[in-house]
Amino acid sequence: MAEISDKDREEIRREFDQARGKGSQQQEGPQVFQTAPGSSIKHVIGVVSGKGGVGKSLVTGALAVELKRAGKKVAILDADITGPSIPKMFGMSGARATATDERLNPVLSVGGIEVMSINLVLEHETDPVLWRGPMLMGVLRQFFEECNWGDIDYLLVDMPPGTGDVALTVFQSMPLDGVVIVSSPQDLVQMVVSKAVNMAAMMNVPVVGLVENMSWLPCPHCGERVEPFGPSRLKETADYYGIVALDQLPIDPQIAKSCDEGNFEEVLPEGFVAQAVDQILAHEELSE
Ligand SMILES: Nc1ncnc2c1ncn2[C@@H]1O[C@H](COP(=O)(O)OP(=O)(O)OP(=O)(O)O)[C@@H](O)[C@H]1O
Ligand SMILES: [Mg+2]
Repeated sequence: MAEISDKDREEIRREFDQARGKGSQQQEGPQVFQTAPGSSIKHVIGVVSGKGGVGKSLVTGALAVELKRAGKKVAILDADITGPSIPKMFGMSGARATATDERLNPVLSVGGIEVMSINLVLEHETDPVLWRGPMLMGVLRQFFEECNWGDIDYLLVDMPPGTGDVALTVFQSMPLDGVVIVSSPQDLVQMVVSKAVNMAAMMNVPVVGLVENMSWLPCPHCGERVEPFGPSRLKETADYYGIVALDQLPIDPQIAKSCDEGNFEEVLPEGFVAQAVDQILAHEELSE
């Protein structure tokens, strides 16, 4: 595999330094969010990627569904304020979060997953969110700190796309136990994943592992596994960064449809992200 060139490395570092500089002008040191009185969250797991549109929300949703199926108490914080997609996947279009004691109540999915997202508090879901950094952070802080989460084993955070300013600040402010990195087969060739790996390293957040989305599909005639982007580079890439190779996810039109129709939870096949779930649960055993 091609090495990251010194020039790329330099550019990535410059991006982070710039974003960090901006962060420190807004506040003195990163302010880590605290859970509201009466709530307890055992583990916070972020789902990130080097760029947008690779399946972060799908993987966040799948992890939530499977951890819930494994008997855990699960919640999702949709930190993608400008492009939220979690409520729709879970059939919550039109649902609105209520408030108790001046704190927001997450909305419950059919299967009992708690969700908080900007789409559950906006008056009209189609309103564009045109806020700048500090306002976005204010909303995220409120979602984490001023929300009646109750007793949660796993809070999954669907992170904003890419490795820009907002993603970086979220990284600094959410008390993350680890991140799952999602990539497309093309990212693995173009080293886009290095941005996500480096961001986690610079923020001292452990990487749970790497998921390759849209990696293969079953042949409609014979069912054999077809790899439209060529042989997977998941293992090779994970080894290169010294992180764990997790699931290779198929392109599945049924799942794409369920994201639009809001029955993702019912349609998701058993074990869709089995290796990521096992890895997350293994971390829990180690930390207990
Ligand atoms: N394995 C898959 N099979 C079929 N469709 C998929 C798969 N993964 C993602 N999709 C579809 O691709 C689109 C993008 O996925 P998703 O919204 O999860 O990406 P994202 O990384 O969260 O994007 P963004 O950066 O915009 O938040 C969605 O319509 C989703 O349903
Ligand atoms: Mg998304």
